[in-house]
Amino acid sequence: MNSKKILITGGAGFIGSHVVRLLVTSYPDYEIYNIDALTYAGNLENLIDVEPHSNYHFLKADITDGTAIDQLFQRYKFDSVIHLAAESHVDRSIIDPLSFAKTNVLGTLNLLESFKKHSEVKKGLFYHISTDEVYGSLGATGLFTEHTSYDPNSPYSASKASSDHFVRAYGATYGLPFVISNCSNNYGSFQFPEKLIPLCINNIINSKSLPVYGDGNYTRDWLYVEDHATAIATVFHKGKNGETYNIGGHNEWKNIDLIKLLCSKMDARLGRAAGESEKLITFVKDRPGHDVRYAIDASKIERELGWKPSVTFEEGLSKTVDWYLKNQDWMEKVISGEYQHYYKEQYSSD
Ligand code: NAD
Ligand code: DAU
Repeated sequence: MNSKKILITGGAGFIGSHVVRLLVTSYPDYEIYNIDALTYAGNLENLIDVEPHSNYHFLKADITDGTAIDQLFQRYKFDSVIHLAAESHVDRSIIDPLSFAKTNVLGTLNLLESFKKHSEVKKGLFYHISTDEVYGSLGATGLFTEHTSYDPNSPYSASKASSDHFVRAYGATYGLPFVISNCSNNYGSFQFPEKLIPLCINNIINSKSLPVYGDGNYTRDWLYVEDHATAIATVFHKGKNGETYNIGGHNEWKNIDLIKLLCSKMDARLGRAAGESEKLITFVKDRPGHDVRYAIDASKIERELGWKPSVTFEEGLSKTVDWYLKNQDWMEKVISGEYQHYYKEQYSSD
């Protein structure tokens, strides 16, 4: 796989900005086009260091606008697509499921249609970035493999499952070359503070309560975002047409234990007494349909493509905490607008 003109959707978001940075800097022969609608989650400040590179191009467009997307494909004839643009937050999908169907399902369909129509698809690749949430919820044991049946529980995961199915359907029906990867929870720099880790970091800095859903015993499998970006580059270059790859960090944490670890790191960095931040932990009403446990069997990508995570959780979480402490102006900007309204609505009983 050696296409030159590569479209990345959602490149101004959390994971997208890391993927754009990696491909622009490591593959100077590629022309990278980032299409992003710049929703509340998209932020060009995430890419300030990438902008001066002559092989990087930003195009503001909404993937739900089929006409605009079609015109861009007609004009640029992208060789391959790495599709990350999405509504990505589970709690928002519970408040507004239709937006998730629109962006994640119809937006993906618009891209598939335009790619099929305008690109030399046989030489390229449609790479759909998906989530382990499509597999539903695990009990106390077991791991999600590429053969686990889809069983999504939230409007977000249902919309991602649907988009995965559409990508596979375009492969089977029209011979469109594709790969899909399903990854576990990411953490790292530039993550919007609606997600658990940056939300807690911001609240600890401001001595605000740390909202733990339910009993806090829900489990997630955390992966450093730069490891996800290298996994995406690996799948893009070495993945086999029509295949799915699960990506994860072999790194399960109960939410409550993770928050306590974060509290202790923050106390040390902020010069607070040990145990100070833990006092902020507040158990709040549970997320409806809350998946109990996610855990990924990543042996296929490790065995077949030679990828494995390189950053330990200890190291990754420390880097993340340091990044947020150094970039409090970034945080202030992203929480200054719509976030206030969302936070009030989501945590009103907090
Ligand atoms: P994010 O919410 O941080 O970023 C999403 C980006 O998509 C933003 O830049 C936003 O402006 C853009 N976008 C949203 N709607 C758009 C539209 N209609 N048209 C064009 N652009 C639009 O999301 P993220 O956490 O970086 O996730 C990126 C992708 O990875 C998503 O597809 C998500 O499902 C998937 N994923 C995320 C995680 C995770 O832990 N965050 C894990 C596995 C998979
Ligand atoms: O597994 C991959 C998925 O991980 C991605 O597909 C999603 O885009 C991404 O948002 C993430 O989904 P989660 O719902 O697992 O992430 P979130 O950070 O929202 O929540 C992590 C866990 O923490 C989850 O069990 C819910 C809990 N939680 C979350 C928030 C925001 C709380 O207890 N309190 C909170 O305030």
